[in-house]
Amino acid sequence: MTRTGARGRGSVPPVSGGAGAAKPEAFLTPGEIGPVAVPNRIVRAGTGESMADAGGMIGDDYVRLHEDLARGGVGLAITGHMYVHPRGRYGPRQAGIHTDEVIPTFRAVTDAVHRQGGRIFAQIAHSGSQSMVADNRPLAFSAVPNVMTGRAVGEATDEELQEAIDAFGQAARRAMEAGFDGVHIHGANGYLISQSRSPLTNRRTDHWGGSQERRERFALAVVEAVRRQVPDDRGLTMKVGLRDILDVPGGLSVEDAVEGAAGLVGAGLDGVETSSNLMSDYVNASIRPYVAVDRKRALEDLLVHRLHKRPEPEAYFLPLARALRRRVDTTIILVGGLRRPETLSALIEDGDADFLSMARPLIREPDLVRRLAAGEQGMPACVSCNICLMHDEHHSLRCWRTPRKRLWEHAVYRALGGFRKTGSGRKPRAH
Ligand SMILES: Cc1cc2nc3c(=O)[nH]c(=O)nc-3n(C[C@H](O)[C@H](O)[C@H](O)COP(=O)(O)O)c2cc1C
Ligand code: SF4
Repeated sequence: MTRTGARGRGSVPPVSGGAGAAKPEAFLTPGEIGPVAVPNRIVRAGTGESMADAGGMIGDDYVRLHEDLARGGVGLAITGHMYVHPRGRYGPRQAGIHTDEVIPTFRAVTDAVHRQGGRIFAQIAHSGSQSMVADNRPLAFSAVPNVMTGRAVGEATDEELQEAIDAFGQAARRAMEAGFDGVHIHGANGYLISQSRSPLTNRRTDHWGGSQERRERFALAVVEAVRRQVPDDRGLTMKVGLRDILDVPGGLSVEDAVEGAAGLVGAGLDGVETSSNLMSDYVNASIRPYVAVDRKRALEDLLVHRLHKRPEPEAYFLPLARALRRRVDTTIILVGGLRRPETLSALIEDGDADFLSMARPLIREPDLVRRLAAGEQGMPACVSCNICLMHDEHHSLRCWRTPRKRLWEHAVYRALGGFRKTGSGRKPRAH
């Protein structure tokens, strides 16, 4: 990966912008992730589409969503997490890549994206004990109730863990047969791989636990199994949890997590997306609200309660990316609250990141990159209100602030107790 020049290590410019802000073009330059040429540095972060049926099969709305993102100028799209094994299914509307039957449906997606000149990686995942599906038997490294769902779980046998590793490998094979440009392993945000790496959830003393070196073995085995299925002309990246974000001591430290990530790169990753590991809720950890929302934006979007509050900071995982950069030479995909064009360019020019991954702004504006490139827009319209996150696994992915009538639909659904009636075993997320 060739990095674009350097302004010297700086920090994200203040929300007010001002002198010294970088030219907003650096994020529009082409780059490579392993062997995959990407037309610009903007990645659509894995964002659950909630568009699958009871069997995990996707339909035309999923194809359209990804075609729109590619047409809208996103350099690389990472799909929402797809479950590799039914026991690892996160929610009732999640897409699956657990059977060969889904291959033709994903072929339609990759064909549509490629017709628009885009690139797309399949995000493959196993939610482990964080599964919110009522009628499955969640898999767990140790008998530790899941911090998000509260569900009690038993300790997995060696055979069950091997089955999960094989399931990741088979899912990667299917992704390749479906024409994806690469695979993105979900190794963050509290799911099975995060659970395997944290001393809080992996209390085993066998081959898979007992020391940090042994707690890394499951993730390494997954990367190796997936790498065997991904040929040299396709990419392999991973969202890696680099810190447990909980209110309890004894979790995975940044130092240990970074050391583990270096091992995963050695096992064959072409790049790492930096995120949090275990967490007690999504909002306070990896999907933070009201990023860069100043008074003007608050007023425009009827966020009365934000009128007298400061904008929440951008690029909140930057310290993790910097810690990783210091330890290992790999392509870094930064995610988490990336908003203003001057911020995007500064991150590339400073060498803090090679690619910039965005989720919420591209839900509201799938054509955001094309408009930024045309100089039509200064600031993404998304205000990180997280209403789309509340509807994850309830309704298909969309922005609930535009058109405005959707805010009313949201209010009615909420008032009628919709978030409590999903048929899944989930605990409502803290919002
Ligand atoms: C509705 C919704 C669904 C998400 N689903 C996923 C997912 O499937 N896989 C994943 O790795 N992250 C998922 N995320 C987290 C995003 O990838 C991203 O890390 C986070 O939203 C912060 O980036 P942002 O500030 O650009 O939104 C989701 C976020 C949202 C809002
Ligand atoms: S509902 Fe719309 S404005 Fe709110 S976070 Fe989601 S995409 Fe952004």
